[in-house]
Amino acid sequence: MKDILSINLKNAEGFVPSEEVFALAQQSVRHLEILKEGTGAGSDFLGWLTLPCDIAAQFDKIEKKAKQLRSVSDTTVVIGIGGSYLGAKAVIEALSHSFTPLLKKKHHEIIFAGQNICEDYMSDLLEILEDRNYSIIVISKSGTTTEPAIAFRMLKDNLEKKIGKQKTAERIVAITDEKKGALRSLAETNGYETFVIPDNIGGRYSVLTPVGLLPIAVSGIDIRALVKGALSMEEATVNNKNGAANPVLIYAAARNLVLRTGRPVEILVGFTPKLHYFSEWWKQLFGESEGKDGKGIFPASVDFTTDLHSMGQYIQDGQRILFETIISVKEPGKKLIIPLEKDDSDQLNYLAGKRLSEVNHNAETGTILAHNDGNVPVIKIEIPMLDEYYTGQLIYFFELACAVSGYILDVNPFDQPGVEAYKKNMFALLNKPGFEEAGKKLKERLK
Ligand code: PA5
Repeated sequence: MKDILSINLKNAEGFVPSEEVFALAQQSVRHLEILKEGTGAGSDFLGWLTLPCDIAAQFDKIEKKAKQLRSVSDTTVVIGIGGSYLGAKAVIEALSHSFTPLLKKKHHEIIFAGQNICEDYMSDLLEILEDRNYSIIVISKSGTTTEPAIAFRMLKDNLEKKIGKQKTAERIVAITDEKKGALRSLAETNGYETFVIPDNIGGRYSVLTPVGLLPIAVSGIDIRALVKGALSMEEATVNNKNGAANPVLIYAAARNLVLRTGRPVEILVGFTPKLHYFSEWWKQLFGESEGKDGKGIFPASVDFTTDLHSMGQYIQDGQRILFETIISVKEPGKKLIIPLEKDDSDQLNYLAGKRLSEVNHNAETGTILAHNDGNVPVIKIEIPMLDEYYTGQLIYFFELACAVSGYILDVNPFDQPGVEAYKKNMFALLNKPGFEEAGKKLKERLK
């Protein structure tokens, strides 16, 4: 049996004593109970809690579709935004070759669209797709989100012009609500194959539904191993009433106690660029879940050592409002030794014969100690390697921790009322039918 990720508070201890963390973790067992009973705020959105087990029934259908898309096309464009984009992007980036698009060997390309409304991005994409044989996975729970809807309209039009309406319909998979929304109607009218996003799972908690799993499977990643990892985390935490031995409760408690020391910004840190989009996924998860009612820890992220040369100065020495959570990966997937050079003209022979990862680990340890000296508490989450299994563990770990942390903060971690504000203004400014009055008022403000 593989290990469970571990959480190390040694470098937070000087700021929040571990006994206090364990005490709050123990008190937070009640939040686990509330989640399981479904009696807390947002309890209509708890489908993700048992998803690692429930989703197994769909593995065959997802894998079959993934295989078919890989066989009929060389590229899949995945259209979606927010929770309908970040989970798949995070896992694919974490577990794929760092230079997938440049690989010489034959591979299936995954390209994301609909996560912005940038004209240059779409133009460049359409240019790239000119000589690609592509399929489309369009994902929108509501089925009405503007960014993916526009991207879908343009890409569908492009594909229809290339291969005709009938063949295009066979190349499109829609992942959306079972009954509601424009995407559901489009899918039914045009005969697209569909997967359902369950009502009781919000966008940012949906990576282990077909929303994340279909694109991940199309990219060639083993979704069963990913979900197995998530299941191992569910089994280790959901019913674990020993606060001091439950990593989810410890993390949720530690970050809230650090917040109470006057540090409202949490920076998620990775020492591998492979975790860049995992951090983006994490930022949405915690930002949308906790940032409401004037509360919440602001989630930020950096990729070290890269960002030590840009953000390092601020973290070391700027306003003391920060703490860090490091995802520490023990063993990289590949091995590389730094070579010896006869004349040592670059004065690096003291590193000769060492693995690159040894240098990276020392950079990590040195950074933790330096930031501690600069008054930055550091929570460390340790995984043995970045593979499917541990990525699945991390996903479930953060989802459950986010729910518990939201309850500690006394917010509803499953709604996102604030996301609507920009949409209303955009619709009003674009004269969307029904928004005329609001449009007039906004245009007055712009005079
Ligand atoms: O987490 C959320 O609910 C949001 O980020 C949504 O995922 C995002 O707005 C996209 O919504 P939809 O899937 O309805 O297009």
